[in-house]
Amino acid sequence: MVQRRYFRYIFVVCIFFSFGLFLLLKAYRASYYQDSFTITNGICNSQSLPAIWTQNSKKWNVGLLKIPSCPKRKNKFTVFIKTAISHRANRDVLREYYARLKTKLEEERGIELKHYFIVGIREDSVIEEGDDIIVGNFRDTYSNLSLKTKAAYEYFALCEDKEEHGASTLVIHDDDTWVGVDRIVQLFGSSGPPANQLFGNEHRGTGVMNDWMEEKGFIVNEKIWKDKFWPNYIAGPCVIMSSKAALKIGASSSSVEQIPQIPVEDAVFTGILRVKNCLEIGTLNYFSFLWNRHKAFCVHTEGNIRLLQEKINETLFNI
Ligand SMILES: *[C@@H]1O[C@H](CO)[C@@H](O)[C@H](O)[C@H]1NC(C)=O
Ligand SMILES: *[C@@H]1O[C@H](CO)[C@@H](O)[C@H](O)[C@H]1NC(C)=O
Repeated sequence: MVQRRYFRYIFVVCIFFSFGLFLLLKAYRASYYQDSFTITNGICNSQSLPAIWTQNSKKWNVGLLKIPSCPKRKNKFTVFIKTAISHRANRDVLREYYARLKTKLEEERGIELKHYFIVGIREDSVIEEGDDIIVGNFRDTYSNLSLKTKAAYEYFALCEDKEEHGASTLVIHDDDTWVGVDRIVQLFGSSGPPANQLFGNEHRGTGVMNDWMEEKGFIVNEKIWKDKFWPNYIAGPCVIMSSKAALKIGASSSSVEQIPQIPVEDAVFTGILRVKNCLEIGTLNYFSFLWNRHKAFCVHTEGNIRLLQEKINETLFNI
């Protein structure tokens, strides 16, 4: 009985302790990343970016060598898949998935689903024929990943009606990633994602140089990015946005010169160029991994094609 008296003190101490820890963590986080931009009277001012990113230097485009047909409807869901020429098996699995979803989406919601695979060029291999293949004018190497993403934005701008968007959603993902198209459509409803936000798995306070880059010998020059950390960005395997956001990012990526020198494409497009356009990272309401995995909007299988196929089988079985 005597000891029970102390419970509430212990309780109070615990609360204080947790609160202190929370503040400390918050302060620590604030010290390593700054996502600062302001919008005044509709004008975007991304003051946290170095000048070379906010000045619009000379026009630059990757260029496209093979251009498949564009979507025809105003209400559409466009999917770009970053793939390697040798990943034929992944493409075939995804092709079947999107073909099935296409019919469903069109019949039930009047939304046109279009998927495209993006590759560069290689001397030693050619990609299969198909109206879902975009070939960009760059060498298909890992260091050119930013150019692959750039090619997607270029193609998108080419197809998009700049006046009228309808409900237009865009997803850019890796060829080992499952995308819950149906779930995304349900989440954003008939108007599509909000125009000023990007969605996906957010990386906060990620260091500029990582082991992978050091191993490959990639160096990000101080002149290109002076900070130790990238702005917050969305992990490369899957990013979801509206066509308005995509057109902004695409347009701004055509007037900076530094992109080819940064191999970390996700930090470039959904970090730096996102901030340049005063776009926010939106929250998806829950963590989508481990026990919550079945609720995810995207699942990155980390090269596991069996898991990808399983996830797709499960989805197709339930529609
Ligand atoms: C692509 O990457 C290679 C090296 O991996 C590089 O030599 C080349 O200049 C890059 N750019 C283009 C546009 O192909
Ligand atoms: C997925 O379904 C196909 C048939 O539709 C089947 O051949 C294949 O084995 C299944 N794969 C997995 C991993 O469940």
